[in-house]
Amino acid sequence: MGKFLINGQTPLHGKVKVSGAKNAALPILAASLLADTPSRLLDIPQLRDVTNLCTIMRKMGATVQREGKEIFIDPGSLNIQEADHDLARKLRASYYILGVLLSKNHRARTSLPGGCNIGNRPIDLHLKGFKALGAEVSLDHGVVDVKADKLAGNRIYLDYPSVGATINIMLAATLAEGRTIIENAAREPEIVDLANYLTVMGADIKGVGTDIIKINGIERLEGAEHRIIPDRIEAGTFMIASALTGGDVYVKNVLSEHIKPLIAKLKEMEVILEEDISGVRVKGVDKLKTVDIKTLPYPGFPTDLQSQMMVLLTQADGTSLVNETVWENRFMHVDELKRMGADIKIDGHSALIKPSRLTGAEVTATDLRAGAALILAGLAAEGQTEITDIYHIERGYENISGKLASLGAKIKKID
Ligand code: UD1
Repeated sequence: MGKFLINGQTPLHGKVKVSGAKNAALPILAASLLADTPSRLLDIPQLRDVTNLCTIMRKMGATVQREGKEIFIDPGSLNIQEADHDLARKLRASYYILGVLLSKNHRARTSLPGGCNIGNRPIDLHLKGFKALGAEVSLDHGVVDVKADKLAGNRIYLDYPSVGATINIMLAATLAEGRTIIENAAREPEIVDLANYLTVMGADIKGVGTDIIKINGIERLEGAEHRIIPDRIEAGTFMIASALTGGDVYVKNVLSEHIKPLIAKLKEMEVILEEDISGVRVKGVDKLKTVDIKTLPYPGFPTDLQSQMMVLLTQADGTSLVNETVWENRFMHVDELKRMGADIKIDGHSALIKPSRLTGAEVTATDLRAGAALILAGLAAEGQTEITDIYHIERGYENISGKLASLGAKIKKID
């Protein structure tokens, strides 16, 4: 299963390069199957979720060849209508196969997706979108079945700006007949990256990055070459690690406009930041000012950095409040952090964090970002921290122990 051993309280120094964004790579890999010809994708992170999605795609008949950070995909005839149920349960993003198969073959069947256990994770908005495009949807014993004689564009209002639903509707609408308008669409950079790739493939998509996306369906897409954007959550995690350990780290391959809320909050905490065109330098300070955080859809503060930020707030000079509005069950790291000495009280969707002395302990990663928070806590704690169930962390962070070790962290991975 593997675990991390961390000996804390070493300031991090040096440069670290951020990998391609997992949450852009997954829908873009799935979207490559919409084309009639091959695509080449660059800067794909080497992660378990990516490997699982590639296996699902191969089992559907596509040729998927990986060489380091490059993946070549030939969708071939893709005449299958079903995605591997066992693998689909392992990653949330497997639901993108539904949009792709529905679009290309007018029928898609798979198990309800898995992923991190951070809330109810319904897909009602995805299914509402498919129905609006003319699909019939049924759910039976955890299997979703979506079919349509033909897909026709429509106006779809999302009750919540869901990232996954926005992407899935875009995937399905790209090859539908006529015009689709998604209102209250999500605006995350990963959606813009997907739209850029689809546009190079020939799709007609306008308004991405705003809350109204307009898609004029077209008949066929050609494969294309595309480089995945840098992972803003990985970047943010390293930035927080530098501030937390009183370090001085240049985080390379960052689009700083994607992490404005984190930059703003770190500045409010009086962390020293220098931004340039390709990265951000983060210097820790002796005294961190307290701030409050409220997670929101983009461009608000990202929920995927909430747990990491909470660790930093344990080292601030007063009480801070964290309000989680995106996911209903995203404080699972708190019990583990408490075992390390964190003084945190949860009240519904809010957590009150008081200045705390962190000490090493044996803790368990309960999900991807919760696991990242435990690594950060281990870096700040006195003595040794042992983190188990690190497969959660490896679903979303490429070589995190190697990257942190290159910055001077005393972290070891034990297989
Ligand atoms: C994506 C990210 C995840 C991130 C999240 C929010 C991927 C693979 N994962 O997840 O890391 O935390 O965005 O930034 O990109 N909801 C519904 N009905 C739906 C869909 C969602 O009620 O049909 C609700 C969810 O329960 C949740 C909220 O909407 O409370 C946000 O979910 P969504 O934006 O869809 O997140 P994901 O795309 O699953």
